[in-house]
This record gives sequence, structure tokens and C-alpha cells, in this order.
Amino acid sequence: VARVTATGTGHASGLVDELVGVVGERHVLVDPDMTAGYAVDWTGRFRGSTPAVVRPGSVEEVADVVRLLARRGIPLVAQGGNTGMVGGSVPTAGEVVLSTRRLDRLEPVDALAGQVTAGAGVVLDRLHEHAEAAGFTFGVDLGARSSCTVGGMIATNAGGIHVLRYGSMRAQVVGIEAVLGDGSVVEHLAGLEKDNTGYDLAGLMCGSEGTLGIVTKARLRLRPRFDHVVTAMVPVGSMAAAMEVAATLRATVANLNAVEMVGRAALDLVADHLGVAPPVRAEVVLVVEAAAHHDPSEELAAGLEACGELAGEPAVAVDGAARRALWRFREGVTEAVNAAGIPHKLDVTLPAAALAEFADHVGDAVHRLDPSTTTYLFGHLGDGNVHVNVIGLAPGHDADDVDRAVFELVVAHHGSISAEHGIGTAKRDFLHLNRSPAELAAFAALRRAFDPAGILNPNVLVPT
Ligand code: FAD
Ligand code: MLT
Ligand code: ZN
Repeated sequence: VARVTATGTGHASGLVDELVGVVGERHVLVDPDMTAGYAVDWTGRFRGSTPAVVRPGSVEEVADVVRLLARRGIPLVAQGGNTGMVGGSVPTAGEVVLSTRRLDRLEPVDALAGQVTAGAGVVLDRLHEHAEAAGFTFGVDLGARSSCTVGGMIATNAGGIHVLRYGSMRAQVVGIEAVLGDGSVVEHLAGLEKDNTGYDLAGLMCGSEGTLGIVTKARLRLRPRFDHVVTAMVPVGSMAAAMEVAATLRATVANLNAVEMVGRAALDLVADHLGVAPPVRAEVVLVVEAAAHHDPSEELAAGLEACGELAGEPAVAVDGAARRALWRFREGVTEAVNAAGIPHKLDVTLPAAALAEFADHVGDAVHRLDPSTTTYLFGHLGDGNVHVNVIGLAPGHDADDVDRAVFELVVAHHGSISAEHGIGTAKRDFLHLNRSPAELAAFAALRRAFDPAGILNPNVLVPT
């Protein structure tokens, strides 16, 4: 695979002319001032450079761009909202960036099927508004909702705050249109709930991180819109107690929407960052939510009551502004951590029986390796998913040591090194901790089949 220099001379300028021929001059960016924002990730940890950002406006243009890059053997990185957390959306090895943001057509909601077809560049907020205007909701929601795109969420199999009710992105996708590595277009968008006609290409695209195809459109499942929502912020004395509370709520609250967690250090950090005192403080704080066609307040209160003394006195909110004020202490952690330093974001899942033990020891394990670090814990406790964010690594310290220490602890407890963010470039060299040689060989064979020229995001997941 050829590497293109960012100088714009010779080889690269011929390339730019060809790209302009496909999408028009306005949609090929080469000026480093214009491309800079596409070449660095949200955390500031992963930086690269690119000879060109190309912004196709249709599936035909995507196919033509991919075909011409495949012919020249030039690698590309697909990019949606660039909110990914694992360095998978930026051109760390000088790749061309294919931005999907212009593929933003949203078709009318099909109320009979309870589905909608959305372009890959549709931003999550807009999808939610569109679904809600038709009496539905979309099952995935997450803090990057004002920027992340349908294509990026499919490519990362995004999770977020409602997985315990609706599943992750994979559970919402019923059909796909995508451009494969040779420029061919696969399209299966009928959205039939039952359709046993061979391999599930839509499912394969979920979590493929732009290595098997460029998603251009998706047929998405919608869920009923609930007009009554109650949110509670619950103080809990320990992670073990928080796991018990989560289990009791899952077992007793039929309309449970979310069980989210913020550890004490993360709560103090986000409160400082917001300049607002949290309504409750404890070793662990849970943000829990129920939603239904009727007011679910009593149902949630009964669930909390069933937790006995494990759950402290909650702060409860039912109207939109008050609920958002509680959510800021959970969703604001990402921004607060970023403001405190460039983070190592480790996103892991543990079996329920091992999670508290892991959470109680992971900070110490990191601190022993590098005493200048601070570790923050937060995440989606209802799904066993903890975000371990480490900041303040000593200069010159090998950051891989910290990642390795955390991952080895995860694997020792039979957990996964990536719950929802994916592998990207950040965790690529650790994938063998969770996947066997036979699985990695199958991954590589899939890549070769879908992308014979090896141009689709070749540096992520399993290197080509
Ligand atoms: P990008 O960052 O642009 O790309 C991500 C990956 O997908 C890259 O590998 C890229 O090459 C590939 N890709 C993008 N578009 C396409 C396409 N059309 N076809 C093929 N490949 C493509 N994630 C969660 O799972 N849960 C959360 O709760 C969560 N909360 C977040 C909160 C904040 C504040 C932020 C900043 C991020 C959060 N994220 C979360 C991470 C991120 O938002 C998700 O990973 C999201 O799915 C990425 O979407 P994107 O459009 O920004 O993709
Ligand atoms: C979250 O749950 O807040 C997101 O996954 C983002 C993050 O990990 O910072
Ligand atoms: Zn998350």
C-alpha cells in the first residue's frame, strides 16, 4: 500500500486532481489549516496528517473515490463525527480522510414498520428529533449526540446509556448500504425483521471500524417514545453495593432505561469542572432512569426501596431541565477529564461477579506503576462496563505499561479490553489478549475478502 506525502507534489497532486474529478473542488480539502481538524482525535492523543480530506455527497461518489484509491493502492480512513475514543478515525499514518458528513439524508419514518433509513452522515441528535416527531425514539443515546454519526456508531458498534434496555448499535441495524474496498456497493435495506438469506452483512459492518466497507446508509429499528421519564441520582457506599443495587433495579423495574455510575474521584472532578455541587456525594453515585407511557416514579422508588440500606437517599427529577442537571454529573465527566489532561481511555467490561473487585484495585495497580497518575472510574454499570481513565502519566513513561497492567487485570477476571469504544489504533496491539490466533486469522481473512487492496483503515483493529 502506497503512502502519500502531505506535500501535495507529484503523486499526491495527481491524486487530488482525480479526487476533484469525482466530488468537485469544494469537496477536496488539502490546505493544512482546513484539514487539521480532521487529523486529530477528540482527546488530542492521536494526531496525524493527510494529503486530502474528500467529502463525497452520494454512494456513487463514495464508490468512485474508493475505486480510484484502490487502483493507486492509497489507504483511507472513513470519518464521521470524529468523536471516536480509540484513534481509529484519524489519519495517523498519512491516510486520505473520507468524510461521510455530506451523506446526511434522513428519509421519512416508516411508522408501519417502526423503522427509518438514514444516511451515514446523519448526526445522532437529528435522528432522535426525527424519530420523536413521529412518535418513536432511537434506542442508542450517548454524550457525543450532537456530533457522532450513524455511520460512525455502526462502525464502532456504539453503546451508550440505554444498552440495558435496547442493546447496542448492532441491535438497531436491520439493513445496510456500504461500499466495499474494491468500490462495489452492497445494498440490503428492506428491513425485513425475518430474512434468512445468508450472511448478515449489516451485522458484520457493526464494530468493523471502517475496515470492511464504508457505510453509506442504514435501515434502523425504532422504539416507542415514552413521554414520562424519571431520573434519580443515588449515593452508594461501595462498588460492591452499587453492583447489588444495579442487579436489584434490573430485576424489579420493568421500565428501567439506564444504570450509570460515577466514582468519587470522577464526581469531584466533574463538579469542580462545572462549578456546581452535586446533590448527593458518596464513594459511588448512580444515575438511574426509568421511562414509560405512564409516570414510572413509583416503580423506580419501589425498586430503590427494594435495595434497602444499600441505596442512600436519592435526588429525583422528572422535568427535563432538572433531569438534565443530574445527567451533567455523569455525562460531563468526559469533558472534565479531557480538561484535566490528555487521558488514556480504557473502556472495559467485567463479569458482574468480578467488577467490584476489579474497580477497587485498578487505581492502585496503575498508581504502583506510575505514582504521578490519577485514575477516574465512571461508566455504564448496568452493562458491567467501566471506563478507566488515567491522566498525568509521567513524561517519558511508557504508556503501554499502564494499558497493559489494566488489560491484564481485566483478562485475569475474564473481562473484555473493549466494551463499546472499539480497538482502533489504541488497543490494536492488545487484541490478542481477548482473541485467539484462530479468531485473528479469521478477521484477517475477512478483511482480505472485503478489501483486497488493503486500503480500508489498514492500521486499526488487526493490521493488514
Ligand atoms: P468517528 O469517530 O468519525 O469514527 C469512528 C470509527 O468509525 C473510525 O474507525 C472510523 O474510520 C469509522 N467510521 C466512521 N464512519 C464510518 C462509515 N460511514 N463507514 C465505515 N466506517 C466509519 N461511545 C460509546 O460507545 N458510548 C458512549 O457512551 C460514548 N459517549 C461518548 C461521549 C463523548 C462526549 C464523546 C466525545 C464520545 C463518546 N463515545 C461513546 C465515543 C463515540 O462517540 C462513538 O464511538 C461514536 O460511535 C463515534 O461516531 P463518529 O461518527 O464520531 O465516528
Ligand atoms: C461515556 O460513557 O461517557 C463515554 O463512553 C465517553 C467516555 O468514555 O469518556
Ligand atoms: Zn461510555
